[in-house]
Amino acid sequence: MSKRRRLIVANWKMYGRLTSGLVLARDIAEMAQNARPLNFDLVLCPPASLTWAVSDALQGMPIGIGGQDCHTATHGAYTGDLSAAMFVDLGCRYMILGHSERRHGHGESSELIAKKVEAAQLAGLTTIVCVGETAADLEAGATEEIIQKQIRESLPPGVKTANLVIAYEPVWAIGTGQTPTPEDVVGVHKKIRKMLGEIGETIRILYGGSVTPSNAESLLSQNEIDGVLVGSASLNADGFWAIAEKCQ
Ligand code: PGA
Repeated sequence: MSKRRRLIVANWKMYGRLTSGLVLARDIAEMAQNARPLNFDLVLCPPASLTWAVSDALQGMPIGIGGQDCHTATHGAYTGDLSAAMFVDLGCRYMILGHSERRHGHGESSELIAKKVEAAQLAGLTTIVCVGETAADLEAGATEEIIQKQIRESLPPGVKTANLVIAYEPVWAIGTGQTPTPEDVVGVHKKIRKMLGEIGETIRILYGGSVTPSNAESLLSQNEIDGVLVGSASLNADGFWAIAEKCQ
C-alpha cells in the first residue's frame, strides 16, 4: 500500500447533460457512501456546466469536486472563461491543469499552466498537474527529458506542495486503450519524485491513460502509484467504482 493517501479522480471531460450527469454522480456517491469510511480520496471533475448541480447534490457525501481548467486571472474581460475562485463558488476543492487536451488541443504552454497553478492554489484549490510524453517522444526515448521540462516549467515558484498532485498521463495512452506496463509507470513516477527533490516523497503522483476496471488492480497494487485519473471509464458508475474500490 502506498504511504500517501490514495486519490481517485474522475475526469468527465465534455460529457454529461444535467440529467445523465446527476444520475452518474449520485450512483457513484451511493457506492462511496455505502463503503464509508473510505481509505482514499475520491474526486469527480464534471464539465463546468454541471459543477454546481453535482456539488450541490453530493453535499455531505465523501466525494470532492474539481474543475477541469481555469483562467489565470481572478476576474476580468475574458469571454467564456472561469476563474479558480469561481470554481470555489461552485463547490470545488480540486483543479485539473495542464491536461494534454489543453496542452495539445488548446496550445497551452507550461508557462501558462504554471500561472494557472498559481491562481488555483491562491484560490485554495488542490491542483492536479498533468504531464506526459507523446508517442513521438516515447519513440525518441525522450520521456524523461520531456517530463522534466514540463515539471520544471509547469510548477510556479513557491508552489504549495500540500496542494499539489502530479498526474503522469502519457499522451499516447489517453483514450487509446493502450497503457504502459505498471513497471514502466513506476519507473516514470520514481523519476518524477527525484525531479521534485525534497518534496518528492510527500507528493501524490497519479497515473492516467486508459485506466479500466481490468487494469486498475495491477496499477494500484504498486506502492509507487498513488491513484489514478480516469477518463472514459469514469462515465460508468459501476466501472468507475470497480476501479476506485481497489484502494479500499
Ligand atoms: P482516458 O482519459 O481514461 O479516457 O484514457 C484519461 C484522461 O484523459 O485523463
